[in-house]
Amino acid sequence: MYRSHTCGELRIEDKQKEVTLSGWVQKIRDKGFMIWVDLRDRYGVTQLIFDEERTPKEMMEKASRLGREFVIQATGEVIERESKNPNMPTGDVEILVKELTILNTSEVPPFTIEEETDGGEDLRMKYRYLDIRRNPVKEKLIFRSKVAMEVRNFLSDKGFIEVETPVLIKSTPEGARDFVVPSRMNEGQFYALPQSPQTFKQLLMVGGMDKYFQIVKCFRDEDLRADRQPEFTQIDCEMAFVEQEDVLNIFEDFTRQLVKKVKNVEVKEFPRMTYADAMRKYGNDKPDIRFGMEFGELNDLAKNKGFNVFDQQELVVGIAVPGAASFTRKEIDKLIDWVKRPQVGANGLVWVKYNEDGTLKSSVDKFYSPEDLQEWAERTGAKPGDLILVMAGNTDKTRTQLSALRMHLANELGLRKADEFAPLWVVDFPLLEWDEETERYHAMHHPFTSPKPEDIKLLDTEPGKVRANAYDLVLNGNEIGGGSIRIHDRKTQEMMFGHLGFTPEEAKAQFGFLMDAFQYGAPPHGGIAFGFDRLVAILGGQETIRDYIAFPKNNAGRDVMIDAPSKIDEEQLKELNLQIVSETE
Ligand code: AMO
Repeated sequence: MYRSHTCGELRIEDKQKEVTLSGWVQKIRDKGFMIWVDLRDRYGVTQLIFDEERTPKEMMEKASRLGREFVIQATGEVIERESKNPNMPTGDVEILVKELTILNTSEVPPFTIEEETDGGEDLRMKYRYLDIRRNPVKEKLIFRSKVAMEVRNFLSDKGFIEVETPVLIKSTPEGARDFVVPSRMNEGQFYALPQSPQTFKQLLMVGGMDKYFQIVKCFRDEDLRADRQPEFTQIDCEMAFVEQEDVLNIFEDFTRQLVKKVKNVEVKEFPRMTYADAMRKYGNDKPDIRFGMEFGELNDLAKNKGFNVFDQQELVVGIAVPGAASFTRKEIDKLIDWVKRPQVGANGLVWVKYNEDGTLKSSVDKFYSPEDLQEWAERTGAKPGDLILVMAGNTDKTRTQLSALRMHLANELGLRKADEFAPLWVVDFPLLEWDEETERYHAMHHPFTSPKPEDIKLLDTEPGKVRANAYDLVLNGNEIGGGSIRIHDRKTQEMMFGHLGFTPEEAKAQFGFLMDAFQYGAPPHGGIAFGFDRLVAILGGQETIRDYIAFPKNNAGRDVMIDAPSKIDEEQLKELNLQIVSETE
């Protein structure tokens, strides 16, 4: 028996018990006649004491040879500590060791394995298994497991069946590039790894499964960001005989219950906003609504007053920054520099200070009277003490830039509180999105999404105006889920592919199986997929999903621990009928 208790378990009530613990040596204090060792396992840390007077000599010697991260087993009596540590659950007791076994030795770890570490990101990734021993990392993985458990509980209570779908498939278009896998048995042919199980879950609906879910790995070859990994996990769901309202209702319940169970927080409101409103009010299709700073459009108030810079622009729009009228010139200049960085790309900012005493002072006093500025204040919802920041330019670009500034300021001003949860459904997404590069329309969600019936007539004339039965769930400014009501008949699906620029032959070659299935009694259906990593991170109060993934990839898509991706040998290439063509050839 390696242990009678864990390292997080013993309390003063266990005094005088003989116990055996196993774990890792976290810290050693060696005074010669007395040695203290902090012993760690997943459950906590317990102090061991070796005492010249009471510990057998042989064990004393063994203890003096211990090093950090050695794996040991210690048997002894639980005694009351002389100096107690109120910061540790086991801080009232220590184990007076009689018997010590070294189960394994350890090299000196490359960074300290404690709450705070001296290890940089790269080093910790290379030795991720050591990083996982640290509390903050370990706790996140435990939290993830807890969320997964609650997800399964909720969905199975509601009658969802978990079904696994294949990983070696054919391309599923979700807007990213596919990872492909060469087939040895089928020369020159490739599988694609799923960007999502989208087509399979629809086929499960045709198969009569009625309610499906899966916590499933998805793969997307796209540029990485804090909230994106090339392989990530979805909570993928689909239901038959549902309308948009049914899906929104059940997943509103789902989110509510999850936040309650894992955070013990009651989500009060669950508002809905159209895509068009989200763009107009926040310049963003995933607005963080935990704080205000809604956009105020100023075209009618700011144009044609002699200020040329505004007159020629499509949109003049501003936000009121709470309490920021006290910003110094230097602080405002810093903001101007911030928006001019290439990542944001704005030309500049016009500012108006709405002073506490009600007076208004701006960078454009030459062109606008106090009465004009007062109107700007009303439009942006500014109160005395606020700072109004205004941008102008092309509508879409300016909205995006002002949205970036809004988020930047909210972060700086501490308005994005991690323990507050503000969900939002964004609905009525456009069905199609114009792609400048390929000069054609793309499905904004995916090609299986159904258009709103009342908008179908616009498909030929104004395709950009057609709205979809598509929705996103936004939590604290992050898109944590997205879904739609699907097309379930062959004719509409064929027409859709046509609008997306597929020839009938191309559509048949890629998605013939789905359109065939639609001919055999496909029920109306719809669903949603949550980004599980994102959901867990946000519930955990963070936005970087990497910390919530046991073995994540770095920003270049590499696993630096196992060194992947890597070259494969000639033999393997030959077997797969692949050739590496170097650029110089
Ligand atoms: P979508 O493409 O919106 O929809 O993906 C669903 C959710 O998955 C998360 N997500 C990601 N998380 C981490 N890293 C990534 N690279 C990544 N990409 C997406 C997001 C997103 O909201 N099949 C459809 C769903 C449906 O229609 O039912 C789909 O995959 O949180």
